[in-house]
Amino acid sequence: MSELRKPQTDALLLPYAIEHDARTVAWLNLSDLQATFGLRRSVTPESHRAWVDAASDTHIYAIVDMQRKHIGNVLLKISERHLSAYFQIYIGDSSERGQGLGARALAETLRRAFCDMELHRVWLHTFADNIRAEALYEKFGFKREGIERDALRVGDQFLSQTRWSLLRQEWLAVEESER
Ligand SMILES: CC(C)(COP(=O)(O)OP(=O)(O)OC[C@H]1O[C@@H](n2cnc3c(N)ncnc32)[C@H](O)[C@@H]1OP(=O)(O)O)[C@@H](O)C(=O)NCCC(=O)NCCS
Repeated sequence: MSELRKPQTDALLLPYAIEHDARTVAWLNLSDLQATFGLRRSVTPESHRAWVDAASDTHIYAIVDMQRKHIGNVLLKISERHLSAYFQIYIGDSSERGQGLGARALAETLRRAFCDMELHRVWLHTFADNIRAEALYEKFGFKREGIERDALRVGDQFLSQTRWSLLRQEWLAVEESER
């Protein structure tokens, strides 16, 4: 195993399992997370489980803190054809945010995406008012690709979103510069 393939963080990600559903459903019904992801409908335990069971192309991980408490989730929706993954992250409880946990979970997710899965590109969306998330992605070297204007209809509003991506060679360059 090369240096780059060694885990850079503690094991903060666990495979997502049914025991994580109850907290996740509660988080996904919070107004701030509904707004962050442009969700319009409430999420029920049944609708959430059906979505998880159908998401065969998606790697979902539970983020746990050092006490093994479930604090959020990340997902990578894989395109095998294009060696890419669409990424989402949330720390469910707002009181747990801003303590470095999101950054550590993102670091470990990127290591899995680029080293373990050998993907070429990880991409994601933000809304323009998500200053914390955008700061996090910039710190990890994500590049702002552009704005998708009025891309989502949420209620009677159209929302624009910014698309970001990080390529494997860019991630490797940042990893090497930090060693
Ligand atoms: C976005 C999110 C995952 C970041 O995780 P986090 O644990 O809160 O963030 P961290 O404490 O790891 O901070 C990472 C970076 O975010 C930025 N950041 C943290 N707190 C911030 C704040 N109050 N204001 C602006 N930027 C902030 C900083 O750049 C920070 O790095 P630094 O501490 O080295 O300066 C988390 O806040 C979250 O779940 N938010 C709600 C859901 C969401 O927005 N998901 C992303 C959708 S695109």
